[in-house]
Amino acid sequence: MKIAVFSTKSYDQEYFENYSIDSRYTFSFFETALNKDTASLTNGFDAVCIFVNDRVDKNTIKILSKNGIRLIALRCAGFNNVDIEAAKSNNIKVVRVPAYSPEAVAEHAVALILTLNRKTHKAYNRVREGNFSLKNLIGFNLYGKTIGVIGTGQIGATFCRIIKGFGCKIIAFDVSKSDELVQQGVEYLSLDEVFQQCDILSLHCPLNASTKHIVNEKSIALMKDGVMIINTSRGALINTADVITGLTSKKIGYLGIDVYEQEEKLFFEDLSESIIEDDLILKLISFPNVLITSHQAYFTKEAMDEITTTTLQNIEAFDKNLELKNEVV
Ligand code: NAI
Repeated sequence: MKIAVFSTKSYDQEYFENYSIDSRYTFSFFETALNKDTASLTNGFDAVCIFVNDRVDKNTIKILSKNGIRLIALRCAGFNNVDIEAAKSNNIKVVRVPAYSPEAVAEHAVALILTLNRKTHKAYNRVREGNFSLKNLIGFNLYGKTIGVIGTGQIGATFCRIIKGFGCKIIAFDVSKSDELVQQGVEYLSLDEVFQQCDILSLHCPLNASTKHIVNEKSIALMKDGVMIINTSRGALINTADVITGLTSKKIGYLGIDVYEQEEKLFFEDLSESIIEDDLILKLISFPNVLITSHQAYFTKEAMDEITTTTLQNIEAFDKNLELKNEVV
């Protein structure tokens, strides 16, 4: 079986080559993302293996189908970038890695909170330059603060358990409640109540029609002055222009994002010698109270192990006609 792996970085290739011992499966690694313009590269392959910023829309699926692709293996949990209905009607199966390490993402969300709050990134640079002043480095105690969590699935639940250890009160909104979390002291409220009552808001729901731009002008208006917003889920959960207005008016006190709506053209690349043609990200970068990481929340050794082994198992299960445990239906 021939598999075309898209959006490959050296570290992805390294993990695949370390784990892939079965010679029946041959992998070709493409640095480029998969989209309608690059889909012709799949000629002669049986499957594609893709990541978060590959865009597999209806037009791309049409080309994949024409080229004989029978499987789309996502190396991630979210599948908002694949037109599942179009895949289905073209008889292409879609599999994913449903949980590779909720701890990796939840811990990164906590890292964003702690860094934004205690400004360790600024302290690090100051001290290296012989500046030992504490001016403007003041933070706040997490103890006793109210944390709002939207989406209490695997990552959200892990985040709740970690943040509880700081002595925070946790309020949450999810379309389905977890009794286990309620027993652990998480209080489920309406979405508006979560917006109104939290000091820190952390987004852990998937991107879909009901969650797109869930943080917008209207919801920001409900929030406490100086609120901290953390997004490690998907960029389009946030209306970036509205958040910039909120930061400018000082309504939003802090913003920590690992994902960005227009990240496709930026994230995972070294653009340090390029002119960045994205005014919104340039504006965000200019705020002293905004911290951006480039979709790295998942990036731990444990998660990479899990992503690679599960992807290989998914491909093997498809090849051997076994039950597709991780099929997206
Ligand atoms: P999950 O499926 O276990 O949990 C998602 C939760 O969101 C579920 O409890 C679901 O009921 C809830 N939900 C669905 N629609 C909702 C709505 N309209 N409002 C509120 N809650 C809603 O997913 P998991 O594994 O916790 O991942 C969450 C998201 O994190 C993924 O969809 C993905 O976008 C993102 N992610 C980001 C990574 C990164 O590196 N930054 C890595 C992995 C995932």
